[in-house]
Amino acid sequence: MGAIADILFGRKKKQNTDVYSSIDKQQLPSHVAVIMDGNGRWAKRRGLPRSAGHRAGTERVRTIIRMSSDVGIRYLTLFALSTENWKRPKDEINTLMKLLLEYLRQELHELHERNVRINTLGDISKLPKEVADEIARAKQTTKDNTGLTVNMAINYGARQEIMAAVKKAIADGTSPDSIDEAYLSSLLDTAGQPDPDLMIRTSGEARISNFLLYQMAYAEFYFTDTLWPDFDEAEYAKALKVFAARDRRFGGI
Ligand code: FPP
Repeated sequence: MGAIADILFGRKKKQNTDVYSSIDKQQLPSHVAVIMDGNGRWAKRRGLPRSAGHRAGTERVRTIIRMSSDVGIRYLTLFALSTENWKRPKDEINTLMKLLLEYLRQELHELHERNVRINTLGDISKLPKEVADEIARAKQTTKDNTGLTVNMAINYGARQEIMAAVKKAIADGTSPDSIDEAYLSSLLDTAGQPDPDLMIRTSGEARISNFLLYQMAYAEFYFTDTLWPDFDEAEYAKALKVFAARDRRFGGI
């Protein structure tokens, strides 16, 4: 009802307009990478099961993808499941798989209409077949889209990604002399994409947890205490504003 009332009375639109007008389009990052942390704590503080936190977190995935597409971000990478997250209880993994499946089923049409391209980082062959099939469908449907690219990092680990790249270089018989940064980049899951300019991690944790270790050499880090389910458009706009004010020197002066 709230959402319908917002639409009827134009409230949501107004909020978007206010938030969007505070964003400097000339200073946008091309590529934003996000560690969506704090779903569990968000739920615990409300006396809810962790699954409720992940469900609320999925709503923020919708928000952030829409806003990234609206403001003109080119690449958005979301860390949905790490290679280490399999250590979590089976129930929780099942919830995450279910949410991912639901999200793709509900949102694919809108994503496609928005010209969003869905891509994945990580080994999705280890996912339940139903989920892997839905991901494959989303990738296939959106493969020629030219707007925002959303990389969903699922069963992803940066060390594993780098190891796979090294193995591939060796298997291809590449001579050591022909290995340079561009070549190594081309063997990573993000091949052909610019490196992240901005990495956001929510929930007060200040680490990068095996995320895009090679690609984030010059990324600006933004850490916020806000828990992922509370990371709304205003919070995202704040992060983009902080990024716009950073002085990036890439090792120069
Ligand atoms: C971290 O919070 C979050 C995750 C491990 C999963 C992120 C998944 C989603 C936001 C939902 C599904 C994703 C998509 C792409 C639809 P945590 O559980 O570690 O929180 P805590 O540190 O407070 O326990």
